[in-house]
Amino acid sequence: MNKVKLGVLVSGRGSNLQAIIDNIEKGSLSAEIAVVISDQADAFSLERARKHNIPAVHISAKGYKGKRDEYDGLLVEELRKRGVELVILAGFMRIITPTLIKAFPYRIMNIHPALLPSFPGLHVQKAAIEHGVRFSGCTVHFGDEGMDTGPIIIQAVVPVLDNDTEDTLSSRILAQEHKIFSRAIQLYAEGRLTIKGRRVVVTGSEDKGGQFLINP
Ligand code: GAR
Repeated sequence: MNKVKLGVLVSGRGSNLQAIIDNIEKGSLSAEIAVVISDQADAFSLERARKHNIPAVHISAKGYKGKRDEYDGLLVEELRKRGVELVILAGFMRIITPTLIKAFPYRIMNIHPALLPSFPGLHVQKAAIEHGVRFSGCTVHFGDEGMDTGPIIIQAVVPVLDNDTEDTLSSRILAQEHKIFSRAIQLYAEGRLTIKGRRVVVTGSEDKGGQFLINP
């Protein structure tokens, strides 16, 4: 099977990036990472990439305040130069613009630590606890022009326990993020994702399609 060429955009510690690297190295994900790009110079993600001999690039956002589209133009240039086919937002803490979205239509995947469309935005694990929901989880979706609004590919569900803190819920969710992100990328690599309206249909599916229900 063809290996899909990934460009991974990051801002921080990169545990999702690490899970993707590990799955590629184990042979369970038909992909290769052409480049990891961070908007933060000191992102631990960059170190993780270098450790695995993956090109790691810092593109500073300094001087691009109010010029997000110009910054995204730099991303597009770097991604194209590396022959990237699918862009992975793995904890990339910037709002992306049409410049990036139009350059990679339905070729941008984001992971979000909540069951969208509930709890878009930031600090969503805390928001889920405060709201009193009994279940939360994570979502892999295609990037579009809204914030956390694009077509949903896979979701995983976890319980919210009475004694949960932001940290305990975040780590329960993160464990599932590490599974479903690679799974979504693998479905893409296998050519099994079709968009119908705003639904993502998983074709050739003898399993549960885009659902991924976790048994706690
Ligand atoms: C993850 O929980 C990811 O879902 C979240 O940032 C974390 C990054 O962790 N992303 C967002 O909130 C995007 N809106 P990581 O750097 O260890 O992968």
